[in-house]
Amino acid sequence: MKVLRNGRHSDMLAVWREGGTVYFIDQRKLPGALEIFEARNYRDIAFAIAHMVVRGAPAIGCAAAYGMALAMTQHDNVEEASRAIKATRPTAHDLFYAVNWMTEMAPRLGPVEAAAKYASDIIDKCRLIGQNGGKLISDGDIILTHCNAGALATVDYGTALAPIRIAHSEGKKIFVYVDETRPWLQGSRLTAWELTNESIPHAIIADNAAGHFIRKDVDCVIVGADRIAANGDFANKIGTYEKAVVARANDVPFYVAAPVSTFDFTITSGDDIRIEERSEEEITTMGGMRIAGPGEQARNPVFDVTPHELVSGFITEYGVFGPDGIKSLHGRL
Ligand code: MRU
Repeated sequence: MKVLRNGRHSDMLAVWREGGTVYFIDQRKLPGALEIFEARNYRDIAFAIAHMVVRGAPAIGCAAAYGMALAMTQHDNVEEASRAIKATRPTAHDLFYAVNWMTEMAPRLGPVEAAAKYASDIIDKCRLIGQNGGKLISDGDIILTHCNAGALATVDYGTALAPIRIAHSEGKKIFVYVDETRPWLQGSRLTAWELTNESIPHAIIADNAAGHFIRKDVDCVIVGADRIAANGDFANKIGTYEKAVVARANDVPFYVAAPVSTFDFTITSGDDIRIEERSEEEITTMGGMRIAGPGEQARNPVFDVTPHELVSGFITEYGVFGPDGIKSLHGRL
């Protein structure tokens, strides 16, 4: 991804490895500061995932793969590392997929090589998602996205942002509405930062404004996913379900962009997806300031489930599929 630093563009990944250290763009600090977090063992990796230094399903998967490689090369108890990494966040399927993939592939390829392959495969898959999804975007389109499903969430390109990047690079004049995405503000802090770095025209909108714009002038909605069940029900950032309902009510196409590593064919429907609930403070405070009265309680589920009936298409590395077509992706991991 392009990153603007001191007035100059450079290319960066969200996650990378050099020697025995794994580096992350620290997503807690953006957009105010571009700081790099260094992980030297699997415990640092588990910390980074649990505390949102790195977030977004495919990027979490990649971090997990690097974490497993560190545990294996440092002769840690691999079972324990696998348990600790899997315990960080429950919803994103890529996390579990990556740990299992490493357990299978590291003995064949070597731990370091396997993790490097996992990361470069994710980048390739996201590039293909961009090419497949880019065809759905026409010159002049206005697109709405929720949360951050960009390069920060996937190492490079993104899932929902990949078609947007490709359409823009092909010279299509597009405009993106970026939901701010309360409470963690992945939209206003991260997606807007990525779009600014790429000079893609956009505006941040309050989450509550999405319905207004979908009704008025949005041509399509594109979001990412954290886990997609066998029937196409999927979990994504809290608030996604509402956007899908409003899109359907206004005949606006609603697309879900995700690699096949996000599909969980072991569960039949969205009812089986475990939804992470994070701290009340994310709701009762903002930027360190308390925004609720003393003693107020809050609930903070960070994902919701959208039923497959509301999805116009799943944009994957293998093409675009309706909810009925995703069965053909089973086994193509
Ligand atoms: O809690 P987060 O920030 O990890 O949630 C991320 C999302 O919901 C993304 O939309 C999803 O992981 C897709 S990322 C390509």
